[in-house]
Amino acid sequence: MPGRAARQGEAVMLIRRAPDMKWSEVTDEKLYLGRRQFLQTTAGVAMAAAAGASIGCSTVSADDQLPGRKLSYKEGPFGTTEKETPYKDVTTYNNFYEFGTGKSDPAQNAGTLVTSPWSIQIDGECAKKGTYHLDDLIKPYQLEERIYRMRCVEAWSMVIPWVGFPLASLVKQCAPTPKAKYVKFTTLYNPVQMPGQNVPVLKWPYVEGLRMDEATNPLAILAVGLYGHTLPNQDGAPIRLVTPWKYGFKGIKSIVKIEFVEKQPLNTWQQTRPNEYGFYANVNPHVDHPRWSQATERRIGEFFRRPTLMFNGYGDQVASMYAGMDLRKYF
Ligand code: MTE
Repeated sequence: MPGRAARQGEAVMLIRRAPDMKWSEVTDEKLYLGRRQFLQTTAGVAMAAAAGASIGCSTVSADDQLPGRKLSYKEGPFGTTEKETPYKDVTTYNNFYEFGTGKSDPAQNAGTLVTSPWSIQIDGECAKKGTYHLDDLIKPYQLEERIYRMRCVEAWSMVIPWVGFPLASLVKQCAPTPKAKYVKFTTLYNPVQMPGQNVPVLKWPYVEGLRMDEATNPLAILAVGLYGHTLPNQDGAPIRLVTPWKYGFKGIKSIVKIEFVEKQPLNTWQQTRPNEYGFYANVNPHVDHPRWSQATERRIGEFFRRPTLMFNGYGDQVASMYAGMDLRKYF
């Protein structure tokens, strides 16, 4: 990819520093208002859009060899020059309990998930309730490549070139009311397509949530692709959340519902093991998981462990949201 090649000679850069990030890169209306202002259409599924209609609009082109539909996107504001985790590892070492609890289960079993057509329900405390076809939902957005380090709960980490758009833009489009304090996300419930849902290992469907300021932070993205192609099913196709300053379980996959709510949602892992998993799940090397230290992590593909950074290295972007909060209590 051109952007990447141009940076090859540079020293490794964790992420671009805060002053380089322009809020306008995220909230500029041009980024989210397209020819069709999808949320102005009447509520109801816009099923007319052809299944597999093209997503995205121009600039960077991806490796043709990879599976999935090739996306067009532009370089986003949060690139890194850290070495990317190989595509194979990103797509064969996963957590997606709807397809089994083993790390290789999702890659083996997720073929049963039907991702097109796909619709998302927008509901709760907002003016623009309705059910929207995913392609219509995405069309107004210019996709951006954002290379993130994705931390997962069991202290492994990856550097993943996600393709997505800022959740903040979608939130704004939905016109939340003043009562909306949190955003709640829900995964598809379909035990035929997701056979793991026949096993009561978690309470289904999988649910996650963000506080409104977290949901509108420029680092929160809705990803529709990785490595320049549509998401493989095992990675959360066709659309999943990416919050790189949080532990991996916040990254809810295969989202079918986005709701604006007044009260803090009870996310699946907090419900399952409340003493081990909380709502916030901010990466924090100083607060250990009851069963393991969270001070270090192993980057997939590397042998030695490395120190884990507070907020996964994104403190400049996110720390102010938690000023004054006891992060041991609100873990
Ligand atoms: N979303 C759903 N619907 N079901 C899941 O089991 N697992 C979570 C999260 N999102 C999960 C999910 C956990 S525990 C992790 S660590 C990440 O997905 C893993 O994302 P990855 O497989 O893309 O690395």
